[in-house]
Amino acid sequence: MNAAITVSHIERDPELLGQTVVVIGGSAGIGLETARRASAEGAKVILTGRSPERLQRAASEVHALSTTALDATDSVALDRFFRDLPTIDHVMVTAGRPYYGRLADMDFAKIRGLIGEHILLALYVARNAANKVRPGGTLIFMGGTGGRRPAIGMSIVSAVTAALPALTANLALEIAPVRVNLIAAGFVDTPLSAELLGDQLEKRRNQLRTTLPIGRVVGPADVAALAIHIMTNTALTGATYDIDGGQQFVAA
Ligand SMILES: NC(=O)c1ccc[n+]([C@@H]2O[C@H](COP(=O)([O-])OP(=O)(O)OC[C@H]3O[C@@H](n4cnc5c(N)ncnc54)[C@H](OP(=O)(O)O)[C@@H]3O)[C@@H](O)[C@H]2O)c1
Repeated sequence: MNAAITVSHIERDPELLGQTVVVIGGSAGIGLETARRASAEGAKVILTGRSPERLQRAASEVHALSTTALDATDSVALDRFFRDLPTIDHVMVTAGRPYYGRLADMDFAKIRGLIGEHILLALYVARNAANKVRPGGTLIFMGGTGGRRPAIGMSIVSAVTAALPALTANLALEIAPVRVNLIAAGFVDTPLSAELLGDQLEKRRNQLRTTLPIGRVVGPADVAALAIHIMTNTALTGATYDIDGGQQFVAA
């Protein structure tokens, strides 16, 4: 006798129904994709970014609850932004960019700010989030896996890469019961990657398709899916989640 095949349809409520997600750097790339997914899962999203035009375009797409144009490295603007917020559920920080450069070419006046930028931004946001994120909500930072392998021109990226997991673990203790987590990505196909690579972008995509164990390029939707999981899984705190398609294990 043939066993009956039962096809069951799993129905579920949207995972973030009624919750509020703040994305600091939410008008493009990983941040915008996270806002899209959070909104699709029933969340109200609040977006920040520097360019008001870009922010408005993103806000109308994801039906944002509100937007604030600010430079996240401006601690005064960031304090004001958080002060005016109601209690929120999650904060994702995607503002910022890496600094690549050889020691001999470094403009120390410029990089003095850049070195601290990621670390200070994380600290500013954490101090504000401690009072605004409800218990069990999470703060998510963005780091990378590329800086784990020493290379010429990668000193600052590597230093920040090494610092962020430690910072995340410590903050997770200090601002509990708010959770703190870090996503460490490899190459992600975003406007930032397009800008950094210029006319080499397609070549890089093809190279990654050939060399990565997953046989494809990681996109912002992959990272957004991880971010939503971290928001909803209340067992996760103090940890770093790699999402690089295996890039750190191959010469890619
Ligand atoms: N793409 C990758 O391969 C990759 C890999 C590992 C880690 N990451 C990290 O992940 C984060 C997001 O990367 P992404 O590729 O999604 O970047 P992206 O495409 O450039 O998007 C960044 C978003 O953040 C905003 N932003 C940038 N600097 C800001 C600032 N100082 N204050 C406020 N908003 C700011 C941008 O809008 P405005 O420019 O209008 O402000 C934009 O909305 C970055 O920290 C990046 O270093 C990226």
